[in-house]
Amino acid sequence: VTPLSASQDFRWMAAAIRLARRGRYTASPRPLVGCLLVRDGLVVGQGVHLQPCHPDDAIRTALADAAGRSRGSTLYLTLTPSTHWCVCPVKALLDAGICRVVLAGSGMDWLEPITRMRQAGIMVETGLLQQEADGLNEAWNHRLKNGRPWVTVKLAMSLDGRTALSNGQSKWITGLPSRTDVHRQRAEACAILSGADTVILDDALLNVRWPPGAAYPGAVIRQPLRVVIDSRQRLFPGLKMFALPSPILLAYADTSTRDWPGHVDTFKCPLSMGGKIDLRVLLEELARRGLNSVWVEAGATLAGAFLQQQLVDRLVVYMAPKLMGGHARGLLELPCFSSMQQVPQLHLLDVRQLGDDLKLTYRLEPSPSIKQTIPSHLPD
Ligand SMILES: NC(=O)c1ccc[n+]([C@@H]2O[C@H](COP(=O)([O-])OP(=O)(O)OC[C@H]3O[C@@H](n4cnc5c(N)ncnc54)[C@H](OP(=O)(O)O)[C@@H]3O)[C@@H](O)[C@H]2O)c1
Repeated sequence: VTPLSASQDFRWMAAAIRLARRGRYTASPRPLVGCLLVRDGLVVGQGVHLQPCHPDDAIRTALADAAGRSRGSTLYLTLTPSTHWCVCPVKALLDAGICRVVLAGSGMDWLEPITRMRQAGIMVETGLLQQEADGLNEAWNHRLKNGRPWVTVKLAMSLDGRTALSNGQSKWITGLPSRTDVHRQRAEACAILSGADTVILDDALLNVRWPPGAAYPGAVIRQPLRVVIDSRQRLFPGLKMFALPSPILLAYADTSTRDWPGHVDTFKCPLSMGGKIDLRVLLEELARRGLNSVWVEAGATLAGAFLQQQLVDRLVVYMAPKLMGGHARGLLELPCFSSMQQVPQLHLLDVRQLGDDLKLTYRLEPSPSIKQTIPSHLPD
C-alpha cells in the first residue's frame, strides 16, 4: 500500500474535522470526533459522534460503515489526546486490515495506543491539523484541564452600549438574524445560565428555539441544562420556564424551601465574601456534572461578576443600530477604575454582520486590575 501524499492527508483530515462538527449540537457532553477510512482516494467508511456515546464509537462506526472495504485503507481520526478519552480498538483495526493511521493528536496521552498500533504493524502518523482539531473540543479540553466549564458571556447591546432600559425592558434590542444565531449558539452549549432578575423581568425560557425549517442533526432538539442563580429563592412555579420539561438547576444560598417538580433540581452553593453565590464553586459543580460549556445570558450585574472574577473565556456581543440613551443599563457592571492601565483588555477574535447588527467575539486576557477584585480566599 502506498502512503498518501501529504496534501491528500491534509485534505482527508480536514474532511474528518468537518465531519466531527456534525455532532456539535447533539454529542454533548462527549467530545466531537470524526473518523474517515480512505482507500485509493475514496472514502470507504465514516464515523462521527452524534450522540453521547462510547469513546471509540467514531472508529467502530467507520469500520462498520466500510463493511468489508476497509482492508488496506488509511484511518483519519480527529480526536486529540486526553488521558480520559484515549481508547483505541487496536484489535478491531487489525481485523479490519487498516494499515495506516493518521491522528490529529500527538503527545504523551497517545504513547500507549500508538506503541500498540506500531507493534501490531500499523503505520502511525500524528499531529496533523492538531490545532484545528483541538478547536473542535476547546470546551471539553478546558473542563478536563481546569475543572470548570468553558464560559461564554453573551450580551445584546445598542450602539451606545446599553443592554436594558431603566425599567428593565430589553426585548428586543437585536434583529431576528442575531436572535436566530443566539439560538444556534445556545444549542451548542451544555448549559444556559442566567440570574433570577433576568428570569423574573423577562419571564425568560432559557431554552433552544431552533429556527423553523432549518435542518437539525437529530430526531429531537437537545435542550441544554438551564441554570439560574437565585440565592434568595425568588423564582416561583408560575414562571414560563418551569412549564417546559427540560432540566433546570437552581443555585440557592440555602436548602430549598419549595417542593419543585422532578425536572427542577436545586444546589445549595456556598457564598463568596461578598455574600453572593460563589460563581467559581458553582462552575466546579457544573463541571462535576460533566458539563463542558456554559452560555451565560444575564444582565449587566451577573455578567459583570463573571468578568470580574476572571471566569469568562469568551465574550460575544451583538451590537444593534439602536440608541437607548444614558438612563438605560450598561453592558457590564465593573469596579470604578481610576486609570486606563486598570481597564480590562479584550482581544477581538471575530466580527460578522447579521442583518443590521454586528456580532463581535472577544477573548479575555487576565488583567491585573480585575485580579485585585477577586476575594482573597479564592485561588487565582
Ligand atoms: N441585553 C442582554 O443581552 C440582556 C441579557 C439578559 C438580561 N438582560 C436584561 O438585564 C436586566 C437584568 O439585569 P440585572 O443586572 O438586574 O440582573 P442579572 O445580571 O441578570 O442577574 C442578577 C442576578 O445575579 C445574581 N448575582 C448578582 N451579582 C452576583 C455576584 N457577584 N455573584 C453571584 N451572583 C450574583 C443575583 O442573585 P441574587 O439576587 O439571587 O443574589 C441576581 O439574581 C433585565 O432587564 C434583562 O432584561 C439583558
